[in-house]
Amino acid sequence: MAIIGTDILKAKEILTAGGLVAIPTETVYGLAANAFDASAASKIFEAKNRPSFDPLIAHTDTLEKIRTFTNGIPERAQLLAERFWPGPLTLLLERNERIPDLVNSGLEHVAVRIPNHPLTLELLGELDFPLAAPSANPFGYVSPTCAKHVNDQLGEKIPYILDGGHSNVGIESTIIGFENGEPMVYRLGGLSVEAVEEVIGAVKVRPHSSSNPKAPGMLKSHYSPDKKVTLDSLDSVLAKGVAPERVGVLTFGTLTDCPIPERNRFVLSENGDMAEAATRLFSGLRYMDSLDLDVVVAELLPEEGLGRAINDRLRRSAA
Ligand code: TXA
Ligand code: MG
Repeated sequence: MAIIGTDILKAKEILTAGGLVAIPTETVYGLAANAFDASAASKIFEAKNRPSFDPLIAHTDTLEKIRTFTNGIPERAQLLAERFWPGPLTLLLERNERIPDLVNSGLEHVAVRIPNHPLTLELLGELDFPLAAPSANPFGYVSPTCAKHVNDQLGEKIPYILDGGHSNVGIESTIIGFENGEPMVYRLGGLSVEAVEEVIGAVKVRPHSSSNPKAPGMLKSHYSPDKKVTLDSLDSVLAKGVAPERVGVLTFGTLTDCPIPERNRFVLSENGDMAEAATRLFSGLRYMDSLDLDVVVAELLPEEGLGRAINDRLRRSAA
């Protein structure tokens, strides 16, 4: 098992020597390595069992550092960066030769983010290289939102987990790129589309595809827990004859007159708060996985704000 602690200098030492460290961020925990070092980054793909055509996000702490490995920041990207960094926003920027092909799958752009977590910002401040870090989960599974989640699944493969408590946003960053200068949301996430549009005007949201091998994180079936998740109504599931003890429910708001046993229920937010629901989403899916069930009935949220990103994860869990 990994060592879990808050020793930034130890994390720095391992990363500088080309090793892996799991790092806390406000969205989810990342599995980090030196983004300028292809052999260090290759360990990430190995530990996660991630296909090498799935590009990584480079994390750092200042715009000055970002300029050293990109070909500049377009005007609207700069506006978003100033408004939302550090925070749950990832920008696709033109990369230069300092980023090895392995890190961004040889694409023209590299995904970049300044995360908002005090421990990780302090660590990044100590480093003269960015950290390539995907979510610290086995490929295709739900992302980790605390050190224990990371240790449970990847503990054998990483020497150190920097423990920053529970991630307070709870779902991955919103990814924004610019196609022919036009802003495009590549992945819905912890920064709402509405907030982005307040700063740069209307943006398009790229639909998922089940066939685009360049971006598996955008594939339809991802974030898959081991248990079968359905978006059908509880009534229709029970009408098929599934016993209530074999059904789990993940809901937004409390349930009244629910025939499902108490321990099989997970409420994302008692009072319908979307930010709280986002924080609890992946713990809820993991909790359902820990139970002996035939099916998990998930309730979609209103299609607005963080509800869109949460629904996106629920749909993909059910795909
Ligand atoms: O919140 C987050 O973004 C977390 C934390 C650790 O920062 N990271 C994360 O990384 O979710 P990952 O690797 O699980 O998801 C990154 C997504 C992938 O779906 C990848 O395909 C996409 O970003 N991506 C990365 N670079 C890209 C690029 N140059 N063009 C298009 N998509 C890219
Ligand atoms: Mg991921």
